[in-house]
Amino acid sequence: MKAQCSNCNTIQDIPKEYAGRNIKCLSCKTCFIAQRFVPPPPVPITAPLPEPGSVIMLVLVVLLVSYQSWAGTKGGCKLSGGAMEIRKEQFGKTKDGQTADIYTLTNENGVQMKLTNYGGIVTSLIVPDRKGQMADIVLGYDNLADYIKDSPYFGAIVGRYGNRIAKGRFTLNNVEYKLATNNGNNHLHGGIKGFDKVIWPAQPVRQNDAVGLKLTYLSKDGEEGYPGNLISTVTYLLTNNNELKIDYIAVTDKDTVVNLTHHSYFNLAGQGTCDILGHELMLDADRFTPVDEGLIPAGELKGVKGTPMDFTKSTAIGIRINQDNEQLKYGKGYDHNWVLNSSDGSPAPAARVYEPTSGRVMEVYTTQPGIQFYTGNFLDGSNVGKGGKVYKHRYGFCLETQHFPDSPNHPAFPTTILKQGKTYKHTTIYKFSTK
Ligand code: BGC
Repeated sequence: MKAQCSNCNTIQDIPKEYAGRNIKCLSCKTCFIAQRFVPPPPVPITAPLPEPGSVIMLVLVVLLVSYQSWAGTKGGCKLSGGAMEIRKEQFGKTKDGQTADIYTLTNENGVQMKLTNYGGIVTSLIVPDRKGQMADIVLGYDNLADYIKDSPYFGAIVGRYGNRIAKGRFTLNNVEYKLATNNGNNHLHGGIKGFDKVIWPAQPVRQNDAVGLKLTYLSKDGEEGYPGNLISTVTYLLTNNNELKIDYIAVTDKDTVVNLTHHSYFNLAGQGTCDILGHELMLDADRFTPVDEGLIPAGELKGVKGTPMDFTKSTAIGIRINQDNEQLKYGKGYDHNWVLNSSDGSPAPAARVYEPTSGRVMEVYTTQPGIQFYTGNFLDGSNVGKGGKVYKHRYGFCLETQHFPDSPNHPAFPTTILKQGKTYKHTTIYKFSTK
């Protein structure tokens, strides 16, 4: 088939299996997404046609150059069909002298993800826009020291309990547990030293259609106040379908509560470039869990219809965010849990985000019953991130798939109790494409 470079407009022959992939232009050597070139309608011929022999020569030369370029993938960006890669480097040392590594995963399409085994943090995720231009679409830092110093959970695994537990207390099997409080008098995202601040022993994963990293962490009985030795395994996979797939597994030797999630701040226009208010969001959720001023759910599942919480149809995030609405005031914007319509145990569509200027699309699928949509309301320009980018108010959004906040204190919510001998198992997929 023929494809036209979106950068220099050169039309070139490519094998049809490369359609939709990121390839290197034979002429200007930049990457572009190969789309079938449809020639414009013929214009009247005013100049004489070249000799038939010279046309054949030209076609042969184009084919030969194309073949050589695909056969030898030299330099520059990764060619479509290129080998998947995992590269490991040192990232730095924690305060107690542990080494953190950083892994660079690349899929066949040249999509690249970096992640560190400190907190299981995704530090960068580089995906194409509708013209094939690559950009990093997650917020984060260039070095470990900045993550250790001050990170609002950029890209991290959050646990043992993602989101809030009121007053840091809950009762399980008639025993009251007191957790570390780190958000006023509430417990947030696992406490003072949650799963985002520990080293996870890592093991690279190679599959037919994906590369990844398997991270394991033993959270000891009593850590941050939780009962039970909990072994969590989080496997990040970057697939050739341009998906970031996260599998969570956990087992415990004593009944406990668990709610693991992932906390990337996305900006599909490119990290640090602008706020996310122009992104359009669809949530497959007819209800949400209203909260009080401390962002603790009251227990009710409330319909979104007729409220600024209604994202059942794709809507720009910024259109209603500043409306005079109690829930938006409590959250200082969106910072709420939506009750997903489908939770039958298999990964079901939960959210879809479209960024109109780049054409990037992110779809979220999950086995979880809820999703926290947070619009970076606490970002205030004090975090200076990758490449010196300043992360201002609402420069990123999070879609944290999860059980509902404060579930241990709401028996009517889907349970977050993990019994000794049982296995906690969840999957979330973030899928990237363009339109
Ligand atoms: C919470 C926010 C919190 C943020 C921390 C989100 O998951 O819902 O309230 O401020 O994490 O960065």
